[in-house]
Amino acid sequence: MNNTFRIGVLGSGKGSNFVAIADAVIAGQIPAEIAVVLSDVEAAGILAHARDRKIPAQFVPPGKFRTKLDEEAERAFVAALQQAQIDLVVLAGFMRVLKGDFLRAFEGRIVNIHPSLLPSFPGLEAWKQALDHGVKVTGCTVHFVDAGVDAGAIIGQQTVPVLDNDTPENLHQRIHAAEHDLYPKCVAALARREISVAGRRVLWKKA
Ligand code: GAR
Repeated sequence: MNNTFRIGVLGSGKGSNFVAIADAVIAGQIPAEIAVVLSDVEAAGILAHARDRKIPAQFVPPGKFRTKLDEEAERAFVAALQQAQIDLVVLAGFMRVLKGDFLRAFEGRIVNIHPSLLPSFPGLEAWKQALDHGVKVTGCTVHFVDAGVDAGAIIGQQTVPVLDNDTPENLHQRIHAAEHDLYPKCVAALARREISVAGRRVLWKKA
């Protein structure tokens, strides 16, 4: 039996986190296969990066809403992921909130990366929220996805200092670099089944 850990990635944007994870898979740092990449944006860079790597990549029309999938789209996403027999759904810049049927289909098996130290600054443009608020340290968070927005149990976090001369753009760039370090490590631990969950606390087994 082939029991390779299978990952499905969802993204809406340029896909730099996907690239970091895909490169870590190729380098043997994540014992898994990326089975499929799906996007709600036809021209998203993430699809091109996946096709460059010969990973099945598919645009799935999101339907009539702006911030969530409509019912038909949700069914199409779930079907594509089930068909690819994925073990873990990795959200990498997927800019829609996932709802009931999707969450139920992959309960406890969906992870996301967010560009702040949650629970600070959930929602959009978190790096800009951090700058506007005047915090001295921000960062990124990998967390399980539940019905709340950026609210699930926290798997890992990495800090990034906020500098006096930061603009939203260069702060986001440094957060992105931290994401590319953190996300592959978290996905690797999940693929190795070294992660356990006790309520809101996520525990890492020592290697
Ligand atoms: C990342 O910074 C990620 O944290 C953010 O989108 C960017 C995607 O970049 N996600 C969210 O804000 C989700 N709420 P990428 O397409 O280059 O990986």
